[in-house]
Amino acid sequence: MPDVLYFNGRFTTTDERVLGVEDRGFQFGDACYEVFKFLGRSPTFLAEHYRRLDEGLHVLEIANPWPDAQSFRATMRELLDRTAFDDGIVYIQVSRGESERAHFWPDGIAPTAIAYSRSFKFPDAAKKERGIRVITAPDRRWKQCDVKSVNLLANAMAKKKAQRAGADESLLIEDGTVREGASSSFFAIIDGRIITHPLDEHILPGVVRDRVIDLAIAAKVRVDERPLREAELFTLGEAFITSTTQGVMPVVELDGRIIGNSRRGEITGELQRRFDELERASQ
Ligand code: PDD
Repeated sequence: MPDVLYFNGRFTTTDERVLGVEDRGFQFGDACYEVFKFLGRSPTFLAEHYRRLDEGLHVLEIANPWPDAQSFRATMRELLDRTAFDDGIVYIQVSRGESERAHFWPDGIAPTAIAYSRSFKFPDAAKKERGIRVITAPDRRWKQCDVKSVNLLANAMAKKKAQRAGADESLLIEDGTVREGASSSFFAIIDGRIITHPLDEHILPGVVRDRVIDLAIAAKVRVDERPLREAELFTLGEAFITSTTQGVMPVVELDGRIIGNSRRGEITGELQRRFDELERASQ
């Protein structure tokens, strides 16, 4: 069944081919995106996703088709009201727009806005306890990773490398420093302290990342926002990744080495429980 699609102010379904071949998102990767999760047709952390989209569009000098949070919320509300299932994700993309192919874009170009809902198999309790395997891979992304741009080729290459190695995620390494996952934020736990990369141009400001840091502080776990050296990966007590689709997901194996005792660690389990509670409450 086709999914419900919002396109430039009207609703249709994903079987309508709405994008032109000269859309700059398609030809130049000239676009920003967001992914949020909904449960029982209620969005989670919608205000945070809107804020990040708005900031990214501002950096890229793309006009925001939703100039305020209320208009964004109204579109997403209607999209979810038209959606046939209760739980899933919404993918949103705003490109600079469509114009005759040229690196220079015309002044006043109108952005292309799309959003569609999709069902999604979120990890179940068994998966959340079992955790995932990760590998390390070189970070070959562009230098403005704090913007959620659609330039995901390097991420997709790293992700495929992980899949071919029988793993779920790649940790991206640059200059001997662990940045983040190819599609997730990364947290190390060493001697009972959490270490995660500080917010700068090397990582995406993950919505779940921010919530989990607050939850850890509330649980009296120390959080150091500092770059983690690759060598420190050999000293992990626990580790986990976070993302909108995976929540807090334990990492139990890294480059074939077992972490902890190959099971979800205690701190990770506690943060996972607290985050799931917060996510339900955020609706
Ligand atoms: N990815 N870092 C990167 C590079 C990501 O692509 C993502 C999310 C995150 C986590 O961000 P958040 O907690 O806001 O989901 C970190 C999404 C889910 C995706 O591309 O599908």
